[in-house]
Amino acid sequence: MLTFPKGFLWGAATAAHQIEGNNTNNDWWVKEHTPGTAIVEPSGDAMDSYHRYREDMKLLADAGLTSYRFSLEWSRIEPEPGFFSRAEIDHYRRMVDTAHEFGLEPVVSLLHFTVPQWMFARGFWRNPEAPSLFARFTEAIVPIVSEGVEYVCTINEPNIAAMLAGGETASNLVAFGLPRPDLAVADALLASHRASREVLSSVSGLKTGWTIATQAFHSTGEPGADETLRDYRYSSDDWYLENARGDDFVGVQAYTRTFIGPDGPLPVSDDVETTLTGWEFFPPALELGVRAAWELSEHVPVMVTENGIATADDERRIDYTDGALRGLHAAIADGITVLGYQHWSALDNYEWASGFWPTFGLIAVDRESFVRTPKPSLAWLGAVAQNNGLPE
Ligand code: NOJ
Repeated sequence: MLTFPKGFLWGAATAAHQIEGNNTNNDWWVKEHTPGTAIVEPSGDAMDSYHRYREDMKLLADAGLTSYRFSLEWSRIEPEPGFFSRAEIDHYRRMVDTAHEFGLEPVVSLLHFTVPQWMFARGFWRNPEAPSLFARFTEAIVPIVSEGVEYVCTINEPNIAAMLAGGETASNLVAFGLPRPDLAVADALLASHRASREVLSSVSGLKTGWTIATQAFHSTGEPGADETLRDYRYSSDDWYLENARGDDFVGVQAYTRTFIGPDGPLPVSDDVETTLTGWEFFPPALELGVRAAWELSEHVPVMVTENGIATADDERRIDYTDGALRGLHAAIADGITVLGYQHWSALDNYEWASGFWPTFGLIAVDRESFVRTPKPSLAWLGAVAQNNGLPE
């Protein structure tokens, strides 16, 4: 048996805008409905998880999982600047309580890409007040996380957010289109993360971290490629991992690898297996991301906050996850502290600009009836959780 550390968390992850439905007050909703948008379809009712979160959590718990990562929707909680909805704060507090009712450790993300429309209108991360606005939002949500929450992810994938901030062209809307990050936005994200961490430092027993999209860059080996890779990786990933130093944990999200030639990232080669998002099927990405995070953060404990594939073939999801977990185990065996593994995703959901068709879920959702059907991969991961390990 490849056994994982005692108390290791085994869970699945989601994000509010991708599953809740009708987040009509955030920036993505506006983009989805802008004529000529590159976004293939609007999120609409999504998976209606705003109303069905109890059922979702129960399915995860019944399968044997022990944690659930979900995000708060800022645009619901602070629909107008400085006005906080007590009803929405209660809603998310109920989600925390429900997680505990089912024996799931809640891993709460404060910001998963979307912001209220008013925040977007005020310049989003380019607004010099962004860190203090995010800190004010963090203060407002303290009642949600002040009891029974140990792990809070402040900002999801700041490195992708800094890339997306480069503009609104189609290529910038593709998560791994890899445009250059906007460095001023990166600084604002770091300041916002730290401001939020500062607010949360008053909550005893709570640990904070930000969650980084690690991208397993590989050099093509051509002349100049190694230098380009170092430069590219630093501004895309490593700077963020280094800036996790001093945090209570660092979130690692890993999916695939990207080859870098002398002129930058290359398209995925035709002769490798790809997933529905067009990314290479590459399970070792997780181990590489975890090792990089551990080293660059100077040994901040790692929480795997996302890992998975979009596929219609659930057997391949199991194969991918099995491979990724073996690599994760090897990293742990080498002395790296890893707190848990949150699979992306609990449910099939709204994959941003790509719409609903890239199915990442352990649970299928009928788009008409919202009926949930667990896939074999959910039972498989639940068994891994219950055994706290994999057969050797
Ligand atoms: C990164 C993001 O955090 C999440 O929102 C997205 O759906 C997955 N990874 C897959 O692209």
